[in-house]
Amino acid sequence: MVKLTLPAMAVADTQTQTPAGLLVVPGFQIPPRDVWVDEVLVQRLVLAARDAAERAYAPFSQFRVGAAALMDNDPKHTMFTGANVENSSYGGTICAERTALTAAASAGFRRLRYLAVCVRDALTAPLCDRSPCGLCRQFMRQFCDPQATNPSLIFIADGQPGVLGQVLDIERLLPWGFRFAK
Ligand code: THU
Repeated sequence: MVKLTLPAMAVADTQTQTPAGLLVVPGFQIPPRDVWVDEVLVQRLVLAARDAAERAYAPFSQFRVGAAALMDNDPKHTMFTGANVENSSYGGTICAERTALTAAASAGFRRLRYLAVCVRDALTAPLCDRSPCGLCRQFMRQFCDPQATNPSLIFIADGQPGVLGQVLDIERLLPWGFRFAK
């Protein structure tokens, strides 16, 4: 196990009065966070995600992505894997992250522990070219509990020699994600 510090994202709001009304640029108030990471488990998940990417069905984009999720409270420590599955209607396509998470949620699990994402062919590209899309971030958010002592973590595989990947929690991956406050 290793301890990591997820960085603070702290910037104040700015407000500008205009003739049409106040324009507010919202700042961030996310404190730093220490998390413990099981790097051996993460490595296994990244490898499972990489393997899943081989089975992606991507005849349109040829962009193959795999994901592997480990859920909290799973006594069997199942690695739920998924790959992107494209459709000729394009909009019917589902990303790897959502494929893996729907498998986990369908098995009854509700809280994400670790999710690894791995693109097959762009592993050394900039982070934006390997990162989960906005829809997947919102989907992940459903299964992340930002208040939990041990937050759900997302690992984005990196193909640089000796680099396992980038680590984020959902607050840093999706700072203004939608919350359905009941
Ligand atoms: N894709 C994913 O599987 N995950 C993402 O987060 C980004 C995009 C897939 C969807 C589509 O099949 C292909 O990559 C190109 O967008």
